[in-house]
Formats: sequence, C-alpha cells, structure tokens
Amino acid sequence: MPVIRFVREQRDVECYPGENLREVALREGIELYGLKGRLGNCGGCGQCITCFVEVVEGGAGNALTEQTSVELLKLKRRPQTWRLACQALVQKSVLVLTRPQVGLGDRDGELSRARSLPLPEGPTAWPEPPDAAEGEMSEESETPPEAAGAPSTTSGEGGVLPADGR
Ligand code: FES
Repeated sequence: MPVIRFVREQRDVECYPGENLREVALREGIELYGLKGRLGNCGGCGQCITCFVEVVEGGAGNALTEQTSVELLKLKRRPQTWRLACQALVQKSVLVLTRPQVGLGDRDGELSRARSLPLPEGPTAWPEPPDAAEGEMSEESETPPEAAGAPSTTSGEGGVLPADGR
C-alpha cells in the first residue's frame, strides 16, 4: 500500500493506489484547509483553490497522477511543487506538506526529518482478489468481485473508494 507521509502532522497514512489525496486526508482527520477553506470549500471540485499541498522531494517518482487541466489553470502562479489535493490521485508513496502557504516552525528540520525516514514505494495496483491470485477466475464463478468482497474500483466522482466503500 502506498504511504502518504503528512509532514506537518508527522503522520504516515496508508491508502490504496488511486485514492484521492483529499479524501484520504479528510478520512484520516488531516486538516487540509486554512480558515477560508474551512469556512467554505468546493467539496473537491477543483474550484475553490483552498486544498493546497506541497509535494516534498523524497517520495517515489510519479507518486501522484499528473496535474489535471484544472490545476494547470488554477496553479499557474503557484510553486511547481504545489498541488490541489482534490485533483491528485495517489499512485505511490509520497511526502506532502499540507497548507504550504502557512509557515512551519523549523521547516528545514521538519522536511529533513521526514525525508530521512524510510518510505515504502507501495504497489501501483490494487491487491488481487483471492480467486484471481490463484490464476484465472473460474468460468462458473458469476459473482462480481465487488459482491465477493473485493474493493470497488471507482466512485461517482472519478476517485477510488477504499474497500469499505467510504
Ligand atoms: S477542494 Fe476546492 S479546489 Fe480542492
């Protein structure tokens, strides 16, 4: 499983490959938003520009999906390392700094400490359901993977839902 290392919060969080960074952060109680975003954000549509994160060097290459067209438009005047969490899907382990626009007390020390700890790269695919792990699925098996307990692969918002469907 990829690990998201939230540098400001000093927390490592596992997620499935392809999960939406904003959704993982909210699920884990990580504060993504400053005051403006807490008072009102777009709910992950890429319109409010309040869910900034900075991708910190030290994670796996291509850890997040490419910038979306929304980000290319909205982040023109921001540092190249900034992303909108709601637009980024986690592919591999990554280090992120939430609310990069807000100061971080010993920033260099915190970043250095976060980089120094080992971080697993994480797989790039979802775990195989038990049936498929043994080879090809039996043709008699008509139970869809979701009904058999395998994780659902997509949500209506284009993101990926974890196994428990949240
Ligand atoms: S939540 Fe509004 S831009 Fe990300």
